Amino acid sequence: MITPQHIEQYKKLKTPFYHYNLDVLEQTLDLLTAESNRYGYHIHYALKANVNDAVLTAIKNRQIGADCVSGNEVNKALETGFAANNIVFAGVGKTDDEINFALDKDIFCFNCESLPEMEVINELAEKKNKVAHIALRINPNINAKTHHYITTGLEENKFGINMWEMADVIHAIKSLSHIKLVGLHFHIGSQITDLEIFRSLCLRINEIQEWFYQHHIIVEHINVGGGLGVDYENPDSNLIPDFKGYFEQFHQFLALRPQQHLHFELGRSIVAQCGNLITKVLYVKKGVNTNFAIVDAGMTDLLRPALYQATHKIENLTTKSTELERYDVVGPICESSDCFAKSLLFPVTQRGDIIAIRTAGAYGEVMASNYNLRTTIASYVF
Ligand code: LLP
Repeated sequence: MITPQHIEQYKKLKTPFYHYNLDVLEQTLDLLTAESNRYGYHIHYALKANVNDAVLTAIKNRQIGADCVSGNEVNKALETGFAANNIVFAGVGKTDDEINFALDKDIFCFNCESLPEMEVINELAEKKNKVAHIALRINPNINAKTHHYITTGLEENKFGINMWEMADVIHAIKSLSHIKLVGLHFHIGSQITDLEIFRSLCLRINEIQEWFYQHHIIVEHINVGGGLGVDYENPDSNLIPDFKGYFEQFHQFLALRPQQHLHFELGRSIVAQCGNLITKVLYVKKGVNTNFAIVDAGMTDLLRPALYQATHKIENLTTKSTELERYDVVGPICESSDCFAKSLLFPVTQRGDIIAIRTAGAYGEVMASNYNLRTTIASYVF
């Protein structure tokens, strides 16, 4: 939601920059907490999506936990004030230093992705005379039907442990006295907009839980990861994701055992719509079939279109023209993939126009780079 007051502010600031709208974030958090509290579900915010201080603080203030994928993220979560006993630490390649740090801080749980990793956690915990709580990340072999770079739940992906190796894993961890199995963890991919896919995940988890039951194992925690998608095409008409429908799927289709807690690791659905990348048109260049609107933001500031062919809604906030023309909206980086939109039907645009690239709050600023020796851009919260 970009208001005329926001646009007045944008005119005063040096572009490009990220703008985070805390009202949108708070509205999102209102619905998220109302809908998850309905069922007593536990939410861990996936820090990888956005680590802006004001954004993190607003999330932390809702008593939400943190999902971290590096020692630095664990540290950031703690510095922000997330409770250590509400932090999960995931990732296929945790280093010894990162594991030691998380052990020292007594985090809630390590999401483990392989037996060798569990052996290392066991060894490091033993040296500290501690018992680390772990959840097994299981590969449910479900197709999230999203972009292949952000699908994670298939056997061919590097993530998780496959069910066909589970008997050996279970057998092996019985001898590891400094880890305690407390949970099962799943994550099938990101930007999933078809809620039926979560239903399939639930049904698969039910089968997997049955397998564990047969092996006399009932864990206290089930963690179904994140993945709920957002509307990149119509941000204003779907500003808040369908948390109600999402949680309903789990309530209806996931067979939790008595006393079992259900956890989620949501990133994008919490922060995507509160952030916009604001940029300015440097030049308009006439092409053969299209015009090029060359803006001062590039793939170094928002990588998603170049990396995943992702579409973000683009708006010209200052043009007075109602006439439409075709534009490729491109950045200044020396790469052809530095393109935010191809052949976009767009109001006639001129040098100096202010452009918003919408729904950029998740996996935007955090994925920025300094390629071409570009300066890291500012971010503002208002
Ligand atoms: N849990 C695990 C284990 C994950 O790998 C992820 C995201 C999440 C939770 C949070 O998922 P979310 O709710 O945000 O979908 N950079 C890509 C997305 C990468 C997602 C990586 N994992 C993008 O810009 O689309």
